[in-house]
Amino acid sequence: MKVFSKRVQDLLAQMTPEEKIAQTFQGLVGYYHEEGVKLEDLTGPVSDQTMSESIAWMVGSVINNSSADAEKNRKVQENYLANNRLKIPLLFMTDAIHAYRTVFPIPLALACAFEGKQAKEVAGAVAREARAAGTHVTFAPMLDLTRDPRWGRVTEGPGEDPYLGTIAAKAWVEGFQGEDKQQLKDGEHIASTLKHFAGYGFVAGGRDYDDTDISKRTLNNFVMPAFQAGVDAGAQLVMSAFTSVDGVPVVVNKQMLTDTLRGKMGFDGVVISDYGSVPDAASYHLVEDAAEATKMAVDAGCDIDMMSFWYPNYLRGLYNEGKITMEQLDTMAGNVLTLKENLGLFEDPYVGMSKERTDELYLGKRHREIARTTARESAVLLKNEGVLPIAKDTKTIAVIGPHANDHDLQGAWASFCWNGENVTLAEGIANAVPDTKLIIEEGCGFRESDAKLLEKAVAAASKADVVVLALGEQTEWSGENKNLTDISLPAAQLELAKAVIAANANTVAVLYNGRPLALTELDEIAPAILECWFMGTETGNATADLLFGDYEPTGRLAISFPRCTGQIPVYYNCPIISHLNKSGGSEIPYVSRYLDNSILPLYRFGEGLGYTTFEYSSVSAPDVMRRGETIEATCTVTNTGSREGTETVQLYLRDERAQIVHPGKELKGVQKVTLQPGESRVVTFTIDEDMLTYVHNDGERYADVGDFAVMIGHDSSADDRKYFTLKD
Ligand code: NOJ
Repeated sequence: MKVFSKRVQDLLAQMTPEEKIAQTFQGLVGYYHEEGVKLEDLTGPVSDQTMSESIAWMVGSVINNSSADAEKNRKVQENYLANNRLKIPLLFMTDAIHAYRTVFPIPLALACAFEGKQAKEVAGAVAREARAAGTHVTFAPMLDLTRDPRWGRVTEGPGEDPYLGTIAAKAWVEGFQGEDKQQLKDGEHIASTLKHFAGYGFVAGGRDYDDTDISKRTLNNFVMPAFQAGVDAGAQLVMSAFTSVDGVPVVVNKQMLTDTLRGKMGFDGVVISDYGSVPDAASYHLVEDAAEATKMAVDAGCDIDMMSFWYPNYLRGLYNEGKITMEQLDTMAGNVLTLKENLGLFEDPYVGMSKERTDELYLGKRHREIARTTARESAVLLKNEGVLPIAKDTKTIAVIGPHANDHDLQGAWASFCWNGENVTLAEGIANAVPDTKLIIEEGCGFRESDAKLLEKAVAAASKADVVVLALGEQTEWSGENKNLTDISLPAAQLELAKAVIAANANTVAVLYNGRPLALTELDEIAPAILECWFMGTETGNATADLLFGDYEPTGRLAISFPRCTGQIPVYYNCPIISHLNKSGGSEIPYVSRYLDNSILPLYRFGEGLGYTTFEYSSVSAPDVMRRGETIEATCTVTNTGSREGTETVQLYLRDERAQIVHPGKELKGVQKVTLQPGESRVVTFTIDEDMLTYVHNDGERYADVGDFAVMIGHDSSADDRKYFTLKD
């Protein structure tokens, strides 16, 4: 039997089986009203289920995606505690992903900062707002590595690279929870959930919830490192994926949830299913009935079944029949009670929550500043033929496009916040250059052409000194279950871009979107392209900071941008294959190729420009590294441009003699250096043995003796190699 604290053990000793089972059940905050419980508020897949009022007063947790109102939430807790026999507080959980009331950049954007600082600040701010409202747990971070931008949920994750995944995991968890477990009790932090464990980013065809047939090699070496980093950072919960590993849905997969997660990876917190996934497991035709699926989930190690009635409906019967044990019920309930204890709820169920605090934090100065800085540091300049930065004394600027003066800039999972406050691009430009004349034209809809709007846009472009062309996606195009078969810029927007650029070549395209787009046609015509992603509350101001050169763009692509949708998946850390096609083109037969396009992405992983240029010397490193020791690889970086700039120096390694087919290069380190014009700096990376390891086919992680290549450069095309040999 798992050993819990004395408080938790004492509670378990007093609890009836029903009370223990109810801790594993999750409901909706909407059940609880001042006059009692109203189960008619049930929605979705659970609406045909029933639950007695007495169970409602024992329920362990609720999803609270509908109220950021501290007073309302306090009343729910007070009412609940007045009716709960043992006065065990109710846990409020929610999807506070990159927003609560203030909206910050989407997680994919934050991954493009290529360091954890920004995600950590955002997570800290989201946690403060959430806790002030009475929320205790967030279902974040989403750590699903993916290579498929058709998948709408690419917006929520860290992109295509395991190293960036580990940076993100640590940053988000420490931001939400604090670095010390005690901070969970300080009224400023919330518990964090790593999701979706594991492999969900590999859904077939980018179709949400679809089959995931993923090799052990990929699962262990690409997907799992971020989850391990999140566990090591102390995440309190892990959410099982909707999908399967080796043909077994994760929620009923003992090998994944118990042997791997709790065993090998050392996770000790709460495992929660994704929404209704115990019932989902039954739909795969793997079980006889609901009770069998429930038993499998319990045996697998799933403590809470999110938003389904199967645990409360079947656990008692399974226990009575001896199919599950009291020890299992104690472990599940004990894990949930321990989470409540870690959050300090037994001492004060209302810690940190108050209307005064939410009034101060929601859209307040402090959080707006974080929103603006992190947005600025996430944007990626993809192309610039001298248009940027725009001079502040420019007389007339035309701001054109469906995103020119539009507030839909928040991205997925900002449901608490969407009150239209996001600063639009035109507003941000007006704030930055109040003396400049602005002409604002929509030009077209997001998908619809309009001859009149187009005509007005062209007229505006002709009159202006500079055009800022704001294109992209609407929030509802990315996120859960928002998948696309075509990720190119819609024809209406491309038509607008062609007409506007023909009228005025001094045009910068600014993109607001939730996923990588196929930008080949835009790249051919636009002299400058700034990828801003969905930036949230401070979008317009942060964009203007970059456009006018008050700050330079420092973001780098955390995911490759394909030339067209048919190229997916295209990713940098692919193996060196036998039929290698170095140029990527179609001219050489019998190599990996397409007849109608290059196999290389349009914009590669790690790519991103600033407002100056840098040169790299060749790499130096010793010839030999002994096991257990470290070596230093260095390279000199020089600012060859005419203004100060920050370079994101990237370290890549390749195992030249691996035991299984291995990535041609893997990002292993990042350093940002700020240099004055003409200044040089020696950049040093310490390489340790851990950086050379990978999970072999025997399931063990270790490094192979033999040769390794070190590459240091501006992006994933870095190819100046220095070799060293790892020796015993
Ligand atoms: C389903 C999503 O897959 C998950 O990410 C989310 O946390 C839950 N719904 C709760 O909203």
